[in-house]
Amino acid sequence: MAADDLPIAASERHSDEFPIIVEGLVNRFGEQTVHDDLSLEVRQGEILGVVGGSGTGKSVLMRSIIGLQRPSAGNVEVFGQSITDAEPDEAIGVRCRWGVLFQGGALFSTLTVGENVQVPLKQFYPEIRPELLKDIARYKVMLSGLPEDAANKYPAELSGGMKKRAGLARALALDPELLFLDEPTAGLDPIGAARFDQLTRELKETLGLTVFLITHDLDTLYEICDRVAVLADKQVVAVGTIPELLETGHPWIEEYFNGPRGRAAQASQARDERRKASSSSRSMDKPHKGKA
Ligand SMILES: Nc1ncnc2c1ncn2[C@@H]1O[C@H](COP(=O)(O)OP(=O)(O)OP(=O)(O)O)[C@@H](O)[C@H]1O
Ligand SMILES: [Mg+2]
Repeated sequence: MAADDLPIAASERHSDEFPIIVEGLVNRFGEQTVHDDLSLEVRQGEILGVVGGSGTGKSVLMRSIIGLQRPSAGNVEVFGQSITDAEPDEAIGVRCRWGVLFQGGALFSTLTVGENVQVPLKQFYPEIRPELLKDIARYKVMLSGLPEDAANKYPAELSGGMKKRAGLARALALDPELLFLDEPTAGLDPIGAARFDQLTRELKETLGLTVFLITHDLDTLYEICDRVAVLADKQVVAVGTIPELLETGHPWIEEYFNGPRGRAAQASQARDERRKASSSSRSMDKPHKGKA
């Protein structure tokens, strides 16, 4: 029987569809329980927005998924491999399939942007020649929307928005399939935030990424997220599109999406859609100028 004819195990099919599966996650710090029996599945190719009040455990959830936080109980699988049971070395194959932009950027201040991007490359591919490393880093810097010369700058020489893009360049260093972004637009002005959102969407579409995106930014949720997961009461209380979330009637969801800021983001999204619809109908109405 050819390899292609072999039946695919159900669990493997499941992990193809859901690159991240979290089941029964518990995280405790001393007396404090942050997560209690939390479960979540992230679909292949989606941008999943993750929201929740400050301190509800969004960053801890991300750290648990990428194996930086050993949970008190539960299981996390990424690409079908258990992260919770694995020793750091065992998960190495799966670790190079994701990239992470940490809350606050976490760039090494004594390294240039280019050298920061080279860190994961050197870690996973120590055999790559220095000139090639430099070329790859420069390419990632440009892919993240920074000018080429930003590769030679130190983090202290960059604006807040540029630092985010530098962090993104480092997250993209290993050509990941999965991208984790923790508050990527926090602290950016609205235009910078909208551009970053656009870039995230474009990267997802062109590189076929699955994106786990923690955010407080309502515009980001409306503009680019396929689904949104809501953290409250130590669990993921709902996952779905924003209209689906609103149907749940959960008080936090109501307050978040129907509060003044939520309504403003909704109105701006509706305006955008009307603008898009009217410009596409105008272009359809236009007589063709080309050959008859
Ligand atoms: N290493 C740690 N040791 C002890 N407590 C921790 C640790 N990491 C996180 N916590 C606690 O866990 C809770 C959740 O933290 P987390 O950083 O995940 O919140 P968050 O939802 O990301 O908040 P924010 O929106 O402000 O970023 C907080 O109360 C925090 O103090
Ligand atoms: Mg956080």
